[in-house]
Amino acid sequence: ASLVVAALVLGYLLGSIPFGLILTRFAGLGDIRSIGSGNIGATNVLRTGNKKLAAATLIGDALKGTVAVLIAGHFWGPEAAILAGFGAFIGHIFSIWLGFKGGKGVATYLGVLIGLAWPIALLFAAVWIAIAYLTRYSSLAALVASLIVPVVLLAMGDIQKGLLFALLALILFIKHRANIGRLLGGTESRIGQKS
Ligand code: G3P
Repeated sequence: ASLVVAALVLGYLLGSIPFGLILTRFAGLGDIRSIGSGNIGATNVLRTGNKKLAAATLIGDALKGTVAVLIAGHFWGPEAAILAGFGAFIGHIFSIWLGFKGGKGVATYLGVLIGLAWPIALLFAAVWIAIAYLTRYSSLAALVASLIVPVVLLAMGDIQKGLLFALLALILFIKHRANIGRLLGGTESRIGQKS
């Protein structure tokens, strides 16, 4: 029982680190939460025009999930790795440093996936890139990619990880409800377009 708590807390604390907020503030760009969509993620950091900062946000927000999974898995085993991954995702979305607010979870979802099932992370990346390239919608790319992952894991018979990513995808969809509304209304902003 204490291992469960330890894995969740480790993941949660790592996941809580808001890289997009820290990096943009460090770069003197002000508060990312008052720019563009107001989200702290890489897509919104890109709206500042600084591609390197957006890439660093993506890498930081992903790596914290990967690191949480790998540390918990190394010390406490495969089930702890899953719990730490869940904790990291929740930490990103309900950050302890941001009054239990946070991001929409895409990068951290990917990072947790890299740690738990890296070949499926390649699939996620391929789907994301294909849809983003075709439509220029970051949100749509993330929604489709994150939905495919649990379906594939469950079809492969990996029930534990399949259920984890089904739960993460559900939360990710809820966090994207405004994006979904804009996609349906045709008003979602495209990659490379300000606002
Ligand atoms: O899935 C990408 C998502 O994070 C969209 O971010 O800033 O366009 O709401 P944003």
